[in-house]
Amino acid sequence: MVKGLLKFTRSKVKQRMKTIDALEWRYATKKFDDNKILSDSKVEILKKSFNLTATSYGLQPIKLAIVKDKKIQSQLVEYTMNQKQVASASHVLILCIERKVDKLFIENYFSHVHKIRSTPKEILNPFKDFLIGDFEKKPPEEIYDWAINQAYLAMGTLLTVCATEGIDACPMEGFEPEKYDELLGLKELNLKSVLVLPVGYRAVEDTFKDFKKVRKPLDDVIIEIKKTASQGN
Ligand SMILES: Cc1cc2nc3c(=O)[nH]c(=O)nc-3n(C[C@H](O)[C@H](O)[C@H](O)COP(=O)(O)O)c2cc1C
Repeated sequence: MVKGLLKFTRSKVKQRMKTIDALEWRYATKKFDDNKILSDSKVEILKKSFNLTATSYGLQPIKLAIVKDKKIQSQLVEYTMNQKQVASASHVLILCIERKVDKLFIENYFSHVHKIRSTPKEILNPFKDFLIGDFEKKPPEEIYDWAINQAYLAMGTLLTVCATEGIDACPMEGFEPEKYDELLGLKELNLKSVLVLPVGYRAVEDTFKDFKKVRKPLDDVIIEIKKTASQGN
């Protein structure tokens, strides 16, 4: 019994160490090996991870566009502040938000919940009506910012999954969304690009891979709260 527990604890500790090792291994890759292409199964993991990301209310106001075409990737360089990672990457993932999160969008979500979980409509309707009313009150910029937050969250999920899967990646906001939308036909799909994530395998000559991680000491970023503000020092 004790032996079994010890084994379980040890494997948990080992797993946790693996996570930290993976996060230390990852870095914002500046140059990918253009000869190395991600397998379909790795790409599938990234697609599923994107879709499994938590989103506010579960509404998923985001989509992932994937480019795996060297010609298009080279065209993207000039719209990415001349950052060449997008050209050398195996695939370029573009995290997009929906341009329209309206009554119909919310109704479709609740129909989907009903279909998947068989939750009776009478149970779902009060929350659905609340959300529709709430979103109708919001100015478009607020909905837009809310959707962007969901894209950043998905980026976090993808970065962590990339690390644990041994996939290199570079999170990027240094690009021109309007140019991407135009070139890739995203606007016609009612989408707006928000973030870019080239993925693949690091090139041996990428010197950034050897740089030490620059992070604040843990004590500077973690605050252990032991009493409420009104309890004083
Ligand atoms: C939202 C976001 C946008 C970023 N944009 C760029 C970018 O456009 N180009 C780039 O080379 N790195 C970009 N980075 C990478 C950061 O510079 C990098 O994550 C940071 O310096 C920490 O280094 P590390 O990720 O290698 O540990 C971005 C990172 C984040 C999270």
